[in-house]
Amino acid sequence: MQIETAQTHAYSDQKPGTSGLRKKVKVFQQTHYLANFVQSIFSSLEESDNKTLVIGGDGRYFNREATQIIIKIAAANGFTDFIIGQGGLLSTPAASHLIRKYQALGGLILSASHNPGGPDEDFGIKYNISNGGPAPENYTDAFYDYSKSITTYKIADIPDVNLDTVGEQTIDQLKIRIFDPVDDYAELMSSLFDFDLLKQVISSGKLSLRFDAMHAITGPYATRILEGILGAPTGSVINATPLEDFGGHHPDPNLAHAKELAELMFSPEAPDFAAASDGDGDRNMILGNNIFVTPSDSLAIIAANAHLVPGYASGISGVARSMPTSQAVDRVAKAMNLPCFETPTGWKFFGNLLDANKITLCGEESFGTGSSHVREKDGLWAVLFWLNILAKKAQPVSQIVTEHWQKFGRDIYCRHDYEAVESDIANGIMDHLREQIKPLAGKSFGSYSVQYADEFSYTDPVDNSISKHQGIRIGFADGSRIIFRLSGTGTVGATLRIYLEKYEADASKHDQDPQDALAELIQLAEQFCQVKKRTGRTEPTVIT
Ligand code: G6P
Ligand code: ZN
Repeated sequence: MQIETAQTHAYSDQKPGTSGLRKKVKVFQQTHYLANFVQSIFSSLEESDNKTLVIGGDGRYFNREATQIIIKIAAANGFTDFIIGQGGLLSTPAASHLIRKYQALGGLILSASHNPGGPDEDFGIKYNISNGGPAPENYTDAFYDYSKSITTYKIADIPDVNLDTVGEQTIDQLKIRIFDPVDDYAELMSSLFDFDLLKQVISSGKLSLRFDAMHAITGPYATRILEGILGAPTGSVINATPLEDFGGHHPDPNLAHAKELAELMFSPEAPDFAAASDGDGDRNMILGNNIFVTPSDSLAIIAANAHLVPGYASGISGVARSMPTSQAVDRVAKAMNLPCFETPTGWKFFGNLLDANKITLCGEESFGTGSSHVREKDGLWAVLFWLNILAKKAQPVSQIVTEHWQKFGRDIYCRHDYEAVESDIANGIMDHLREQIKPLAGKSFGSYSVQYADEFSYTDPVDNSISKHQGIRIGFADGSRIIFRLSGTGTVGATLRIYLEKYEADASKHDQDPQDALAELIQLAEQFCQVKKRTGRTEPTVIT
């Protein structure tokens, strides 16, 4: 195999965000841009005898081209064994599973998750380590450092790999295995959930469902598992064909972007259960007939009912949520006498806790839920978890949720996003908040009195690493919270996220619209951050 050393020049903007490097496709298509970043990853990794690499992506525009480039650079950097999803496709959780199952050194996942795809939209790449999880910050910092002064990269002079035929190929000394993207994942799911019971209730029509794959990667997974294995009627999975541009939509499972599905669930035609997943298959949105389950509640309900699901029936070791996620799961943990951890936003922060078996379940308000079965959040896993709970309890989603609230109280929750804010203005808002927080404790605003106000900093309980500046928290005496953060995943300007949460113990007040119940907090949030005043906007871009 002939290896060439290509001359390159450094780009200054290759700092990975919350979940890898995400940029416009046009940015990635700049000369050597992708190659630089991939070389920066390989050059930053410690020497290892493990030469196996997993590669797969969500099928968005540039996926195939990027896959071929990565194979050549990886081969030049000493990788000899490649596990690649057919067509270059793998959902993020499936990639995580393959890394673990076949004990690869790591994997490269090509995705910009829920961001739109297409020639003028987004692409992304991230490295996952041997535990199957996203590379922690010490890795991503090293990648970035390397990228800032890179001058050459290595690339193998080999032909393009046939990505479409499942099976093994040998190119020079390279062993290249093209995997069916669904097989191993489906087998894992069948080991965790009661597929016999699910098949019984789903194929008989006792439990009707709709799954929106949003023209993204979960199409083939959901079609095989929900329709093929569990017998849901053909057509239960909609938008099932992955498209390079996701049909021009945002493949983001929330009330704004999966609007049709949400409308269906609040109409007379609603099936018992509906769900959607995102571009790369790690997110999930859960709906029942006439009800939307917030991701924070979903995590809490999953934790409270884990004993009903075979893979978790023997008990769970603990739970974790990201800081802006509501405290609903904390209440379940307390009742079950389980440890509960609060981490910064980003799935990578769960990795150590999962590896050390300090937790079994974890989740984020950003439509992510998962467990120790892989080291990524997992959309279809959450869907199957819910279906398993529904099948066991034989109750509608709404009853499960309201009974949960009756038992634990309701954490009324919502998030307001201001997208594409000019970076200077967004940073100004955060600075302004930082200036205010110190003297806030003890002060009262209307019916709310501030108990604490700080900037969240996290010390990992396993490796003691410290992550600072993880969002501004204002906590009130009654348990309510307002949190402000700048998103780490956007590609245009800055996105200010405002998370609002109010605890309601009184069951007679559970049936409130969050926007009404949170109105006073919403107003207070504006008073603190002045986003409307500073941007001239009148409304958030998205409310979830
Ligand atoms: C990705 C990450 C999540 C994170 C989410 C939102 O999906 O995997 O861990 O919660 O993005 O991040 P952001 O920084 O945009 O709020
Ligand atoms: Zn995703």
